[in-house]
Amino acid sequence: MSTAFGLDIGGTGIKGGIVDLGTGELLSERVRFDTPQPATVAGVLDTAAAVVTATGWEAPVGCAFPGIVKGGVVGSAANIDDEWLGENLESRLAERLGVPVRSLNDADAAGLAEMRLGAGRGRAGVVMMLTLGTGIGSALFIDGRLVPNTELGHLELDGPNVESRTSAAARKREGLSYEEWGARLQRYFSHVEALFSPDLFIVGGGISRKADRFLPLISVRAPVIPAHFRQNSGIVGAALHSVE
Ligand code: BGC
Repeated sequence: MSTAFGLDIGGTGIKGGIVDLGTGELLSERVRFDTPQPATVAGVLDTAAAVVTATGWEAPVGCAFPGIVKGGVVGSAANIDDEWLGENLESRLAERLGVPVRSLNDADAAGLAEMRLGAGRGRAGVVMMLTLGTGIGSALFIDGRLVPNTELGHLELDGPNVESRTSAAARKREGLSYEEWGARLQRYFSHVEALFSPDLFIVGGGISRKADRFLPLISVRAPVIPAHFRQNSGIVGAALHSVE
């Protein structure tokens, strides 16, 4: 059985675990610590290292990050400290952990997991993964190939940055019922559908555990299905990416 370590840095929590690369199953406990606030470079590196150490893992690591990541370098920092802009996440984390690191955007990681081993397995055409968490992440696949860093949580819809009104964190912050939040999701999904005409939507993020509460409220042409790995998609995708 081949295994790898997936680390998922989020705006609220830093999660990780050892993943079976054949099935995407977690072979260790899912370790989670709160993201330090402010989420500075030093603070996030410390917490990320604590997550890895807690499992006893000492080999290469895949890391999902909540911003644009190109060639290991951070290109945006909406839900994490601005200090991260332009930082080489891969080399900083590799130095901290003493093992090689490969990194990618968190929604892209989640999408990778779902396309390879989860809800999107074997699906051709245009697949759009949206993650609803502290922000909104997006991952676009065309015949199984990722178009990275699409950043559709920052679309302008009823104001700048749709994620600030439509993420799972926004629902909590504003005390919205699932019906009220569902109306916002409906507007967002319709907008994304008008732009990309996906053949399938996959919905991830922590809230996807409660998919039955809000997915029935979204009606678009394409099917909308929950992520198979739910809140663990990012961990699984980061692990898969570490051996790519
Ligand atoms: C970031 C994305 C990220 C998403 C989910 C957004 O604010 O810009 O890169 O994928 O949050 O974490």
